[in-house]
Amino acid sequence: MPKKLDLTENLEQYIIDHSEVLTDVQKEIIQHNISLGDQQRLQISVSQAQFLQTLIKISNVKKILEIGSFTGFSALSMALALPPNGLLISLDKSSKFSKKAQSFYEKANEQKIKQIIKPAIESLKELKDLNQKYDLIFIDADKENYLNYYEICIELINKNGLIVIDNVLWHGEVADVKKNDKFTNIIREFNKHIKEDSRIVKNIIPIGDGLTVCIKK
Ligand SMILES: C[S@@+](CC[C@H](N)C(=O)[O-])C[C@H]1O[C@@H](n2cnc3c(N)ncnc32)[C@H](O)[C@@H]1O
Repeated sequence: MPKKLDLTENLEQYIIDHSEVLTDVQKEIIQHNISLGDQQRLQISVSQAQFLQTLIKISNVKKILEIGSFTGFSALSMALALPPNGLLISLDKSSKFSKKAQSFYEKANEQKIKQIIKPAIESLKELKDLNQKYDLIFIDADKENYLNYYEICIELINKNGLIVIDNVLWHGEVADVKKNDKFTNIIREFNKHIKEDSRIVKNIIPIGDGLTVCIKK
């Protein structure tokens, strides 16, 4: 069996440095998030953003739905990988974060992103009633609602479309039998649900805090 890699911070930085280069506005969002202190943890990692961009390009994704935009790093990164006629709908309940995100989209002259500011479950139900379909859905909001989001997203995703979910390894705690706090158990339950779901093909990718990629059959 080949030796397994220990994904240290150094190695993560090396991966970032040798992958797709960030734009000035992506870098600016990261700097802004760092200035927010603890909240910077909400943002996906750079290597996750680069991976999402690759997924979008190799799968010919045109329509994206994002649940949880924060200050816009993941949305802008994904929008940059879309073709010019692409669309990204970004859901967040926080008008403060959404306003900041919008300022970055404008700075980047990125017009493919549309925001909906209200609790995501309401937006998802409305999009479902409107029969909307997406090629990729990225779930990265409140963990308590992950299962609810996923079940509606299964209705919103196109055949062969991708549902990508962040934080599925929960700092590695999902595999630690001594950890039994509320959020570790929520993520464990969610991962079990995905594992048993025969409507999709799935793969957990160990980058950032862990991304599950599901392909709708
Ligand atoms: C982890 S952050 C998203 C990070 C973002 N994807 C990025 O990489 O920068 C989670 C976001 O979900 C939003 N959120 C939390 N609960 C929500 C809900 N019930 N409905 C909509 N948005 C919610 C928060 O306001 C926050 O901006």
